[in-house]
Order: sequence, then structure tokens, then C-alpha cells
Amino acid sequence: IADVKGGPDEGMDRLGEVLVVRGWVRTCRVQSTVTFIEINDGSCLSNMQCVMSSDAEGYDQVESGFFTTGTSVLIEGTVVSSQGSKQKVELKVARLILIGKSDPSAYPIQKKRATREFLRTIAHLRPRTNTFGAVTRVRNALAYATHKFFQENGFVWISSPIITASDCEGAGEQFCVTTLISNAGESDCPLNSIPTTKEGNVDWSQDFFGKPAFLTVSGQLNAETYASALSDVYTFGPTFRAENSNTSRHLAEFWMIEPELAFADLNDDMACATAYLQYVVKYILENCKEDMDFFNMWIEKGIINRLKDVVEKDFIQLTYSDAVELLLKSKKKFEFPVKWGFDLQSEHERYITEIAFGGRPVIIRDYPKEIKAFYMRQNDDGKTVAAMDLLVPRVGELIGGSQREERLDYLESRLDELKLNKDSYWWYLDLRRFGSVPHAGFGLGFERLVQFATGVENIRDAIPFPRSPG
Ligand code: 4AD
Ligand code: MG
Repeated sequence: IADVKGGPDEGMDRLGEVLVVRGWVRTCRVQSTVTFIEINDGSCLSNMQCVMSSDAEGYDQVESGFFTTGTSVLIEGTVVSSQGSKQKVELKVARLILIGKSDPSAYPIQKKRATREFLRTIAHLRPRTNTFGAVTRVRNALAYATHKFFQENGFVWISSPIITASDCEGAGEQFCVTTLISNAGESDCPLNSIPTTKEGNVDWSQDFFGKPAFLTVSGQLNAETYASALSDVYTFGPTFRAENSNTSRHLAEFWMIEPELAFADLNDDMACATAYLQYVVKYILENCKEDMDFFNMWIEKGIINRLKDVVEKDFIQLTYSDAVELLLKSKKKFEFPVKWGFDLQSEHERYITEIAFGGRPVIIRDYPKEIKAFYMRQNDDGKTVAAMDLLVPRVGELIGGSQREERLDYLESRLDELKLNKDSYWWYLDLRRFGSVPHAGFGLGFERLVQFATGVENIRDAIPFPRSPG
């Protein structure tokens, strides 16, 4: 359907062509002389209107009432210009085949709009709605544009491991992966019987990996090793966090894009984040017009203008210290305290981008080292690190990044300060021992980007199958 209706003249260039369309019936209106069937195949938002008179092959099944919403069909017909005002062309049906019936009394997707909460309970059928079809196509376009951007700029894509022994962010939000090996050599779920040693500790010798293993929270440390050999690289894959926060911005399983730039500092990192975001937003504005118009109309009024501003205007930059001052001066009452040294909460982040800077993306840099991860490069003031967060309206933190500590002595003393086990980071320290280079990178939560780009309010609607507590 997209191939025909998405053409230069909305299908008028295809008049007279005989086509076969396969898809799912959205509506079927049987009238005395003609029957109108709207069919959708997911290739685009629009349906193909198919007009059928009683002489068409298969008409008897329409009369029998089998062509209800949700039915899968094959329709063959000729492209003709449409009398209706909604579309330029329609199909004059010659032949119609029912592929799979759909019992109208049981099919849960009805014509009237269902709530997002309800649709989350039928994640297997919600892609058949306009909203989820559009979100899925735009998510796909953003993924394509992501690879396009990095490939055009000479980055090499790295698959970082999902199962790992290290906690990149040091926040203890990892899911543990344990699988016991039974005597027969078969693996077993350990829920009922975790083997322990005489001292009462977990006996890891009976575990598949022989030591605790986790689902990764970030591919960054792995990306750093490849950036220390291939220069600019990026990852794009699933990451996992056992944050028990039931918010509209957190998932337990989400996708992250993590570029790592070699021979680069924080300014290069911020420039890359800006260029990347402008590129992918421009891409969907140019290539997903129909879906973006739908979001603008039904999901978030004005989203297109907001996104155009992202592409056309510079991002705001300020330091963490300036951001704290700005919050302290504001008249707004915040739930969480604002104080130098405290992390910014989402209410603060949203105030900064939505109110203080009128909806523009804002990059905050140079955070206190105490609230940031061990690997971030210490600034000369001894109190802050070369970190940056990129904030956008509605979503808050979209990107978190930093210049990495490339100096062996600084990194070792930071690990000591945080009482982290240096032995388990031996390979990470090796990168600083052998040909260390200044490098920097960031992580972008892909579902937060989808949220930002489509206007969907809840992150659970920005991923096909959301995973969250409970
Ligand atoms: O700020 P974070 O924790 O940074 C890192 O993981 C770094 N290792 C990235 C790097 O420098 N390579 O996470 C990065 C981004 C956040 O800005 C947010 O967009 C997203 O990942 N994110 C989540 N998205 C959905 N659900 C969650 N639970 C998320 N946690 C983080
Ligand atoms: Mg962060």
C-alpha cells in the first residue's frame, strides 16, 4: 500500500495498474450496490479503500458477513481514481480471497479508541492499531538513521556482550544470571535449590559460568576496548536494569546506543551527540511524513514544530553549577532539594528544558564527581568530572556521557576511593597501561528517543514488548 499511495502523486501515477494487496480488514461497509473494504498492510498508516460490486469473484463471502475487522484477505483489483475526498486512488476489486477469519465478537480491537493501558495487556495485537503501527515504523526509521549516521561518519559497529561479569555503572542494578549444572550435565533453574558451601555461601562451582554473571547495564566498557584499537566505534543493543522504578521513563529492558570516540574530549562528545540527534530527527521529519502528521494530530499537538527546532536551533549548554544556581533562583517549589552536590531529579531536568529554556534541548556538563560513575575523567578543579547529560522536554535525560579517565594513576586512585576491586578491572586498566588515549562517549536510551520523537507519554509504548517490574 505504501508503494502505491506513498508515490509522487499518491497513486495517480499508477492508474489502470492491476495490483494484489494482502492485509487486514479495518472496516467493511456493505451497501446496496457496492461494498467498501478498508484494508491495511502495515506498510503505511493509510488503508487501501477497495470498492467491490456484486460481480466480483468472492462477493458471496462478503455477503455472508465474513469480512469483519481483523480478517486477513487478499484482494486483486485495478487502480482507479477515487470519488471520495480522503484518498486520490482506490482499488476496483476483481477478486477477493479470505485468508484468515476473525470472530468479531471476540476480536479485542474495536473501532473506538482503546486506552494505552488496555492495549498493553494485548501486546500481541496492539501493533494492528494506527498508533502502534506508526510508532513501530518510526522506531524502525530511527534505528536505520542511527546506523546510517554512524556508518557515514566512519564509526565501526560493535556487538557488546549481554552476559557480563562487570557492573559498568556501579549502581548495583544488575539482573543476575545463574544456571546450575546438574550431575547429568543438564542445566536447571536454580530457584528452589541454590547450592551452598559448608560456610553457607553460594557454591558458584556448580554454576554454568563458575562465578556470578549478570545482564549488562551498558556496553560502554567493551566499547572502550574497541575504541582503543579501531578508533571511533558504537554499540546498539539491548541493556538491562533492575531499577525498581515504576515511571513513564524507565524500562527493565531497553536498547542503548553507545558511541565511543577515540582521541576525543568532552567537547567532541557533545558535538557528536548534537549532530547525531539533529540527524536522526531530520531523517524522520523527511522520511516519515504521514506518521509524523498523525502524531502531530493525535498524540502530541505541535510535535513537528518542536522537532524542527531541534534540527534548526543550537542546543543550550551550561555547567552543573550554573544549572543549580538557575534552579535555586527559580520561584518553583520542587519536591526534591536543590543543592550543589545533589543529583538533579527529573522535575529539575524538566524545569530546565521545558520552562527555563522553552523546550530547547539542554546539555549540562561538569557534574560533581561524587554523583557520577568511576570511569569519568576528573576536571582540574578536583571536584567535578567531564560528564554531560543531554535533556529534552517531556523525557528529561535522553543522553548521559563523559570523557573517560585515561590516566592510569587517577583511575586507580578513584577505584580505591570507591572501594572497587581493582583486580576485576585488570583488563580495563590495561587499556591505560598500553597506548592510552583521551577518549569520550555517551549512551542514548533508544526508547526515550522514540518517546521524544513520537510524543507517546509512556516509555512502555515505545518498545514492542515492554518489560517492567511486576
Ligand atoms: O546515564 P546512563 O546510566 O549512562 C550509561 O550507562 C553510560 N555507560 C553511557 C555511556 O557513556 N556509554 O544511561 C544512558 C542512557 C540514559 O541517558 C537514558 O536515556 C537511558 O540510557 N536509560 C534508560 N532508558 C530506559 N529505561 C531505563 N531504566 C534507563 N536507564 C538509562
Ligand atoms: Mg545517566
